[in-house]
Amino acid sequence: MDIFYLDKVNSTNSYAKENFLSFKDKAIIIASAQTNGRGRYDRKWVDFGEGNLFLTFVLKPSGEFRQIYACLTQYLSVVLYNVLQDYGLLPSIKWPNDVLINNKKIAGILCESVMIKNKFQGLVLGIGVNLNAQKDDFDLVKDREVTSLNVELGREYEDKKLFTEKLLNTFFRHYDDFLCSGFVLIKDDYTKACDFLGKVISVKVFDKRVSGVAKRIGDFGELILDDNNKEITLTMGDIL
Ligand code: BTN
Repeated sequence: MDIFYLDKVNSTNSYAKENFLSFKDKAIIIASAQTNGRGRYDRKWVDFGEGNLFLTFVLKPSGEFRQIYACLTQYLSVVLYNVLQDYGLLPSIKWPNDVLINNKKIAGILCESVMIKNKFQGLVLGIGVNLNAQKDDFDLVKDREVTSLNVELGREYEDKKLFTEKLLNTFFRHYDDFLCSGFVLIKDDYTKACDFLGKVISVKVFDKRVSGVAKRIGDFGELILDDNNKEITLTMGDIL
């Protein structure tokens, strides 16, 4: 596995896209700092300093785009869930791919397709994990409650290298199987991590709001709500 360490970039995902052809499949890009970290729906990913992880996987599965690639963010959320459990924490996953501890977001995941001349080339799968932050830093994020690994463990500093090794090893342990089987490979683990199931929730889908009881996760990672005995299937959105 090729790992590229960068000092400062605008965004590891942007860098990976711009230089996509120069990387081999499964290359890893890690930056010490991001000046323009990006999140889902054009949100920003705030940089809490170099003790935190900003990492992008360059993935080049063969052939055309397949629907299961859209579930890679959910695959990575389960990977992170397992790694955090190994630290003795009790994480949860908020559909589709936010990983939380005590309801506070500790990581964000962003997957983007790379197209050249209308041809699918592969994906860049980025993850930001708050590993080392101070509680005061969290005020920089206005729209949600956030946390970090060191704060949750009550420690001064977490070893970023060790965490990164655990994350990469866990990711690649089942990545090839995931490409063969798709979401069903992780469906049980993913479902167990979703502590909102059975509760009444609201989901923002673009500018609409959909509410209902979160009933189950489908075979393709979709969220199925029950609205007065009518099933609503969501493939994108944000739980409010
Ligand atoms: C989200 O929660 O909306 C997704 C945030 C993804 C942030 C990571 S940090 C590494 C990679 N580079 C980026 O610009 N974004 C992702």
